[in-house]
Amino acid sequence: MSSGALTVYAPASMGNVGVGFDLLGAALAPVDGSLLGDTVTIEPLASGIVFEQVGEWAHKLPADPQENIVYQCAQFFMQKFAIAGGVKLSLSKNLPVGSGLGSSASSVVAALFALNEQFGRPCNQQQLLALMGEFEGRISGSVHYDNVAPCYLGGMQLMLDLPERICESIPAFDEWYWVVAYPGISLSTAKMRALMPAQYDKAVAIEFGKNLSAFVHASYKQDAQLALAVLKDVLAEPYRAAAIPGFNDAKQALAELGMLTTGISGSGPTLFSVTDSLATATAANEWLQQHYLSEAGGFSHICRLDSQGARVLAVD
Ligand code: HSE
Repeated sequence: MSSGALTVYAPASMGNVGVGFDLLGAALAPVDGSLLGDTVTIEPLASGIVFEQVGEWAHKLPADPQENIVYQCAQFFMQKFAIAGGVKLSLSKNLPVGSGLGSSASSVVAALFALNEQFGRPCNQQQLLALMGEFEGRISGSVHYDNVAPCYLGGMQLMLDLPERICESIPAFDEWYWVVAYPGISLSTAKMRALMPAQYDKAVAIEFGKNLSAFVHASYKQDAQLALAVLKDVLAEPYRAAAIPGFNDAKQALAELGMLTTGISGSGPTLFSVTDSLATATAANEWLQQHYLSEAGGFSHICRLDSQGARVLAVD
């Protein structure tokens, strides 16, 4: 158990990565070296749970601390592991809520990682990941690990959903740049899920299976051409695209700029677009800043995948 304060960072993530609805996710790291994710600073107290929220997007969270998922994580953790004493948690809410960048996952992962570090690691990796999924599911309306898994573990994660094997990392294409643009509006994951049909045709199920299996195969073979040919979203994008202002126009413009493929990050409205050329990524980033960002707080970044996942940034 640490006697001082420690600060944990948990990166933004793209759920689905287009081709793997609920089954694939990747963590993001802007190439300019900036951090794109929430942090939680934790320090021990004699008793009780003290929670504060700061940061650019803190005003979008419930004002009552007990309604905050970070507070709820602490309450659960302290009770479950019968931890004597108290704790203070300070959440820096740096990711916009309802953005498709795994904002709630980032808060939950940072909080549970910090609690586990602070109190002598009572959870192993899989146990902690299961808890992260459960708590994130309280916010998004259903348990899916495609944000918490990459946010916690980094890289490109494939969900296995087996006991003790929730996910495993698959090889990424290190030469790819992921341009991600958040327009500034907020969309509810639950509502974006409700837009999708409850059942799909057999042909769509087969195409989904083919695309995802071929993408994973191509990742292991490091066959970028194959990976790009099958990086298609046949489950969600056809039903969600119209609910994301400007998405279809942006997708077309990005293709004309030479981007290799474009999709929805998580349930949107953030989009991702892939290239292996920094010059093309820079042009796409500029286009998105001029044409896709619609509200204050919107942003666009050229990213690589974040291979580290959640980590301790500072110990006092
Ligand atoms: N897989 C989830 C969805 C991710 O697309 O609904 C939400 O961020």
